[in-house]
Amino acid sequence: MKPTKHKRIGLITGGGDCPGLNAVVRAVVKTCAYEYGIDVVGIQDGYWGLIHDRMRPLEPDDVSGILSRGGTILGSSNRDNPFRVPEDVGGEKRFRDLSDAAIKNAQRRGLELLLVVGGDGSLTIGYQLMEKGLPVIGVPKTIDNDLGATDVTFGFDSALVTATEAVDKLHTTAASHHRLMVLEVMGRYAGWIALSAGLAGGAHVILIPEIPFDIEKCAQHIRQRGYHGRNFAIVVVAEGATPIGGEMFVERTVPDSTDSVRLGGIGRWVAEELEKRLEWEARATVLGHLQRGGAPSPQDRVLATRFGVEAARLVAEGKVGHMVALHGTEVDSVPIKEAVSYLRRVDPKSQIVEAARALGTCFGE
Ligand code: F6P
Repeated sequence: MKPTKHKRIGLITGGGDCPGLNAVVRAVVKTCAYEYGIDVVGIQDGYWGLIHDRMRPLEPDDVSGILSRGGTILGSSNRDNPFRVPEDVGGEKRFRDLSDAAIKNAQRRGLELLLVVGGDGSLTIGYQLMEKGLPVIGVPKTIDNDLGATDVTFGFDSALVTATEAVDKLHTTAASHHRLMVLEVMGRYAGWIALSAGLAGGAHVILIPEIPFDIEKCAQHIRQRGYHGRNFAIVVVAEGATPIGGEMFVERTVPDSTDSVRLGGIGRWVAEELEKRLEWEARATVLGHLQRGGAPSPQDRVLATRFGVEAARLVAEGKVGHMVALHGTEVDSVPIKEAVSYLRRVDPKSQIVEAARALGTCFGE
């Protein structure tokens, strides 16, 4: 066994799930057991399990066969936060700070450190717990690919595969019916999924939060296609895309969540507005949580496994307060504080956007 600074850790998967979480869980548990002799305790349903003391030991046998399985065997939550636990006081909802109790639960279980697999919300909570005395190490995940400190997060590639498949399928039906097909994809405040799936699927219009759009310009572009005998069009729109001077489309708010806003609705609006301006019929498809479900792509399995192995190494080295990250082809680590301080959004002047423009893709500018 290699030397290790920590002998017993808690493992938590927090925030919205994504393909590849189980691959991380498997890699952490196996590496901890085989390389360092570290005990891993799985915490149920994100921070809910830490608050309510629901945990179980994880042995290599427990994680056998989960590499290709979507979701997380531990469960997850994008609402539970030990610093803001809702409670009903005489019919009124109030919030309590139960972080001390959550940390005590970890200590009572002998957990020397918490390994948090999460997006910016869960990692920020992890950082706050660390400031109160519970050491934390992070692993970034999200289909949105919007964490500043890593080139890529696992989950993104699998979501991209699903979104690209949807664009391909919409293409064939759009062409048969001479229709306008609008696909709304996830991504929160970043347009990575829309941009990449749009490019990969050959969309004619791509709308992303980073480039506010003019719906009239989109209509003109599609009209031009019609003049050239192309009698269908595909529009991929990110849920966070906004018309110039307009607001993001909010579908609902989830008050307990670290980011309470849930986006949605822009796809239908774009389809209706284009239909008013053009002679073709339009249909909107919202891809939704299909992007978060199912088996991880091979690329995500590899990245998640590498992140898990590196996270176990950080635990053994005692690199508290760090998060694993991919830079170029190498997995290394960055301070969590830095990692959660900024979002990585699409640069409208970047090579990838220019490549799409070079092909005549319309961004509604
Ligand atoms: O952050 C991942 C994500 O899937 C976003 O792309 C999306 O905006 C949000 O989570 C949806 O959250 P929920 O699962 O609460 O609807």
